[in-house]
Amino acid sequence: MSLPFFRTPKPIESQFSPQAEIVLYQGDVKDFLAEIPNDMVSLIITSPPYNLGKDYENRVSIVTYLKAQTEIIAELFRVLKTEGSICWQVGNFIENGEVYPLDILYYDIFKKLGLHLRNRIIWRFGHGLHASKRFSGRYETILWFTKSDKYIFNLDDIRVPSKYPGKRHFKGAKKGQLSGNPLGKNPSDVWEVVTRDWEEELWDIPNVKANHPEKTGHPCQFPIELVERCVLALTNEDDWVFDPFAGVGSALIAAVMHNRRAMGSDSDKEEGNYSASAEYTDLSL
Ligand SMILES: C[S@@+](CC[C@H](N)C(=O)[O-])C[C@H]1O[C@@H](n2cnc3c(N)ncnc32)[C@H](O)[C@@H]1O
Repeated sequence: MSLPFFRTPKPIESQFSPQAEIVLYQGDVKDFLAEIPNDMVSLIITSPPYNLGKDYENRVSIVTYLKAQTEIIAELFRVLKTEGSICWQVGNFIENGEVYPLDILYYDIFKKLGLHLRNRIIWRFGHGLHASKRFSGRYETILWFTKSDKYIFNLDDIRVPSKYPGKRHFKGAKKGQLSGNPLGKNPSDVWEVVTRDWEEELWDIPNVKANHPEKTGHPCQFPIELVERCVLALTNEDDWVFDPFAGVGSALIAAVMHNRRAMGSDSDKEEGNYSASAEYTDLSL
């Protein structure tokens, strides 16, 4: 995927305004949501707190955690456009060594609002902590929901090279014609990254670790490439992309890189306070 050229720097507003291009709100997402009109956002993409007791969250019971998230998700639904999408990226909540898969727990919250699941994407990564009492966790998921049956899906903008790009039908009415789409193939619902493993139908998007070039002090950063695919597929230029738990702003960067409007909120003032050695996922071994 080629990186678009940044032309002029865009101002970053600290409060929502429909004319803004980039909004970064420092504070609680609920307060920020109160500023946003109905039917405004084309893509909500986020990795919410997992209730793991990290620096930015108080660990509470799973029931209390999900209740608080349900209230936020109802407000996110309100600001989402009819043709809009929500991408909810989660891993596991772990208590006393028992795994609670958050995507399963979140599914009903979205369904009760009337959202439609389009994909449960597996984001597989090659690195992480080594478990001693279960298999080491090497994937998380992204639940992609749409608000209605009329939604944006720009498949041609995210196609990946076919395994055999020049392959042709060898018999029948289409004999001699290309058998695949010359623009490439659908990237599938298993995402890794990159340019190495096309033949395995995987994008190997590495999770952002200490030695990753995008690494900041945040313990659970999105890789920008992961958001780029969602932005390109699920929005059009000038649409609003919103990360309610924005962290270091990876989702906003991906949106701005592709000429979308970007907004995000995060309750933390000092991203630099985070421990650079903290791991992304599967934290309680
Ligand atoms: C899993 S991290 C998201 C990281 C982000 N995807 C990135 O690329 O940096 C969750 C973020 O939610 C923020 N957060 C937690 N509770 C919040 C709240 N009530 N309102 C806004 N942000 C909150 C935390 O400060 C943390 O940065």
